[in-house]
Amino acid sequence: MIRFNLNGRWIESSEIDPNCTILKYLRTNLKQVDVKEGCAAGDCGACTLMLGEMTEHGIEYRTINSCIALMAQVHNRYLLTPSGIGRPGNLHPAQQAMIDTHGSQCGFCTPGFIMSMANLYQNACINETQALTDAEIHAALSGNLCRCTGYRPIIDAAKQMAELPRVDVRDISARSGVQAFDPAAADTAEALQEKDGHRLFMPYTEAQLQALLKAYPDARLWAGGTDIGLEVTQRFSQFDTIICVNRIPELAQCLAAGQDMGDQLWLGAGVTFSQAETALADSFPSFAQLLHRIGSRQIRNMGTLGGNIANASPIGDTPPVFLALAATLEIDGIQGRREVPLKDFYLGYKQTVMQPGEYLRAIRISPLGAGESLTTYKISKRYDDDISAVMFALYLNVQDGLITEARLACGGMAATPLLAAKTNAALTGKPFTLETFTAAAACIEQDYQPLSDVRASDRYRLQVTRNLLTKAFIELSQKGEAA
Ligand SMILES: Cc1cc2nc3c(=O)[nH]c(=O)nc-3n(C[C@H](O)[C@H](O)[C@H](O)COP(=O)(O)OP(=O)(O)OC[C@H]3O[C@@H](n4cnc5c(N)ncnc54)[C@H](O)[C@@H]3O)c2cc1C
Ligand code: FES
Ligand code: FES
Repeated sequence: MIRFNLNGRWIESSEIDPNCTILKYLRTNLKQVDVKEGCAAGDCGACTLMLGEMTEHGIEYRTINSCIALMAQVHNRYLLTPSGIGRPGNLHPAQQAMIDTHGSQCGFCTPGFIMSMANLYQNACINETQALTDAEIHAALSGNLCRCTGYRPIIDAAKQMAELPRVDVRDISARSGVQAFDPAAADTAEALQEKDGHRLFMPYTEAQLQALLKAYPDARLWAGGTDIGLEVTQRFSQFDTIICVNRIPELAQCLAAGQDMGDQLWLGAGVTFSQAETALADSFPSFAQLLHRIGSRQIRNMGTLGGNIANASPIGDTPPVFLALAATLEIDGIQGRREVPLKDFYLGYKQTVMQPGEYLRAIRISPLGAGESLTTYKISKRYDDDISAVMFALYLNVQDGLITEARLACGGMAATPLLAAKTNAALTGKPFTLETFTAAAACIEQDYQPLSDVRASDRYRLQVTRNLLTKAFIELSQKGEAA
């Protein structure tokens, strides 16, 4: 049975199909049509909602794309929709500001923008007196598309809402009481949802996950759902057995080097992009900046590092970075725990070494020492919310002007994310000079034979990768990081 709080009202149902998305349930079953469907693929933001979770600091909210999120994701959580946060005569500041600045024309995108703005307001304005920065507004709205108003009045609304009288949406969610939930009391061997031969399980510990994998080794694992959700909404797949892996605290941990994990940084497979952005900001700033370019705020709130790796897409953004960092994967499951270097993980297009009954537990990387650097570049047609044509990640170790180790890895250049073996060999043991990089760039087409597709031609991909290698040299030289 699913139990959730919608705009301050608790709802329970044992009649929800495990494959049913939040958007579908709200619009079709509850006739809650203030949430809109645009693309049903996580791209346009029309379906954006605020999802609240009880934490030690009270209810904390984040935005999600409800079109690709399963109803299981609201279980024991607090959902807010546009009509829930304000009514005529008693509007939320985001709604009032949108009216005042004429931020809506046809109105189709407006509910989604309102929710992204209200979430920003809730997290950044409630207790702050400082004005929102352009960067904060830009990041919050990066997953919302408007095809008729234009963005200027909408951004004006986001700036203006901070000056309106305070509204705290936690009061709305808590209207009919907050209900304590004890995961330890949940019977996770029983399906949380079961209907028409489909069932969904929600483990809260790794031990429970392993027990479920033993019983259902062929179950589909569902983390953030930002890849697998599209199988439901675009390909109309219906999974018989789903195991949600996004409520297991062990898998959502980031442990710094020295924190029980020896000298490596330990990133749980369930860490979301948003969480990783914060966790890696100091130790791997170039990686954190790249994470900021993945999808939109909504996608980064949902999508996980583990999903990005396990999905085995040739155009996933983090696998090339983890390859450049020589990451090790921890895989666990019914056969026991094993470690696999990421470079040995991919077998071919969308194929990995993982067996039925196994799951990805964590990714381990070593912190950068003196003379070591990581450079990442994402080449895509749009800055926000776009898939890479080429993803470039370069690790270098330069000691006394000599490159002692080089690992370039790229996405979008082969059937899997791939290390550039010949280019790396051409860099290693050579002086850190433009001549070395120019000579190495000539090896790139021996490493990669990319395809032409809607994102870029094969020639463009090769040329841009060569250029990025030169760019990396120039930037590192200027920073003096690898001198
Ligand atoms: C609008 C949009 C924009 C996007 N933009 C980007 C982008 O810019 N860059 C990018 O790289 N990706 C992007 N993606 C793709 C997606 O967000 C990422 O690949 C994300 O990391 C997937 O993680 P998830 O947790 O949502 O995985 P899910 O969708 O839950 O799962 C993906 C696959 O991994 C498996 N899986 C998940 N967790 C585990 C685990 N712990 N162990 C074993 N198997 C597991 C699932 O069974 C499934 O097969 C975008 C997607 C959308 C919809
Ligand atoms: S409907 Fe477009 S993102 Fe959900
Ligand atoms: S107001 Fe029409 S799409 Fe934004």
